[in-house]
Amino acid sequence: MSESVSVRVNGKPVTVRAGATVAVAVLASGATCRTSVTGQPRSPLCGMGTCFECRVAINGEPQRRSCQVLCEANMEIEANG
Ligand code: FES
Repeated sequence: MSESVSVRVNGKPVTVRAGATVAVAVLASGATCRTSVTGQPRSPLCGMGTCFECRVAINGEPQRRSCQVLCEANMEIEANG
């Protein structure tokens, strides 16, 4: 098993440790996850799937909670930040 996983966040290559969540990759990229209805940048808050602040698109599927999904090789992640 590889020790690291490479993904892309808003087209930017990011490498994280194997077992890291998509939320980790988004934060490592310097992006935030989404933008609120009032235009505020939002990032992971609870880290356990209840607040929905960490939603991003993963491989084209929108509204995924990034704290609940582990990074897989070559994932394409679209965040608003
Ligand atoms: S950080 Fe709260 S649902 Fe993901």
